[in-house]
Amino acid sequence: MARSEMPAPLRILTVVGARPQIIKAAALSRAIEGPFRGRIEQQLLHTGQHADANMSDMFFSELGVPAPAVHLGSGAGTHGAQTARMIEGLERTLMSDRPDLVLVYGDTNTTLAAALAAAKLSIPLAHVEAGLRSFDKRMPEEVNRLLCDHCSTWLFCPTNTAVENLLREGLAGMRARPTADAPSVSLSGDVMYDNSLHFAQLAQERSTVLRDLGLRPGSFLLATIHREGNTDDPQRLGRLIHALVQLVHESASPVVLPMHPRTRKQLGLIDSKGTQALLAAEPGLHVVDPVGFLDMIQLERHARLVLTDSGGVQKEAFFFGRPCIVLRDKTEWAELVACGQAVLCDADPQRILIEAERFLAQDLPPLPSIFGDGHAAERICEELLAQV
Ligand code: UD1
Ligand code: UDP
Repeated sequence: MARSEMPAPLRILTVVGARPQIIKAAALSRAIEGPFRGRIEQQLLHTGQHADANMSDMFFSELGVPAPAVHLGSGAGTHGAQTARMIEGLERTLMSDRPDLVLVYGDTNTTLAAALAAAKLSIPLAHVEAGLRSFDKRMPEEVNRLLCDHCSTWLFCPTNTAVENLLREGLAGMRARPTADAPSVSLSGDVMYDNSLHFAQLAQERSTVLRDLGLRPGSFLLATIHREGNTDDPQRLGRLIHALVQLVHESASPVVLPMHPRTRKQLGLIDSKGTQALLAAEPGLHVVDPVGFLDMIQLERHARLVLTDSGGVQKEAFFFGRPCIVLRDKTEWAELVACGQAVLCDADPQRILIEAERFLAQDLPPLPSIFGDGHAAERICEELLAQV
């Protein structure tokens, strides 16, 4: 086809803001710069929800995500204040740029703000990681997911369970020309799985994290804690830290804890039962700053056991065949619990220690294939091009 006859590229505005969204954007950005080059044009808008270099900038350079064309600098705050600032900035950009569609990931306040801003301006919205449900509206993420899904035009589900969840809410089926009132729901697979496959070899070659921390593969445990429900309740946070310290001794293995800034801040505000003193006095608990993605997947892949309240880290533990203790009482990734790779232990030290002992004593059963084939990003691009 002569250049003048080529259809105009599809103009997507991708909105990111929190660490996991920048990581997820890497998969789609690879597809857009690769097989879909010339057919899709993507610009990124960063809300500024996460601003520390090791929560944001580091991932753009490490994972080859294009620099944001717009940065709102919205920063931290209460849910309402943070979301409102983002909506104002997003609305300004959307009114002047009028992209063909807005694309969002996951379930953060950034996701919600972009969904509301786009929906009110009647700009079609594509939600990647649609249909997840923990069935617990005490989690801010559950509210964000529900609202975003119900104003989306394209709902890209990572798993069959997510498709079924949407079906129960009256959202179903792929459509030729979807709209916000008659959206298209499809099973795309998981862009995080795409990323884990893509970056695993690179991590093996480039990451020096194991050497830097003096860890032998298969000899340590990995933990992350950052969910509001755990960090902002001093008693729960104290119990979790105590459980990790006990685990160092009971498993005779060091525990690595890359600490989210929210958790560090909250720990600074409490000193229940000498939690900080306990942390400082335990050489087997390696508290480190947040690490890059290549380091993180290298840690996940070589850990004996993963303990986390993160959505993404639960799944990556599954991708690398590692057992996972979920430090919550509910998860939106119910399949992981159903297949025996993960177990819900809440912030209960006794349950954590019992399940850790069980996991460390036995191998995982063979794990099913749940998250697609590593080509979710390409599938999403194809569908958007065919349906807009
Ligand atoms: C947010 C998401 C959560 C997601 C997580 C990923 C919401 C409601 N929550 O939680 O779903 O799992 O991101 O990591 O959107 N902070 C810094 N520097 C940073 C980032 C955060 O200091 O770069 C501190 C600030 O004190 C801030 C606090 O962490 O107030 C919480 O940050 P915020 O973005 O509001 O929520 P997260 O806990 O990161
Ligand atoms: N991650 C990372 N460095 C860290 C902790 C997490 O690169 O120190 C990555 C992790 O591999 C996963 C994503 O961040 O891809 C998960 O983000 P987070 O736990 O912040 O949020 P959630 O997934 O719970 O929304």
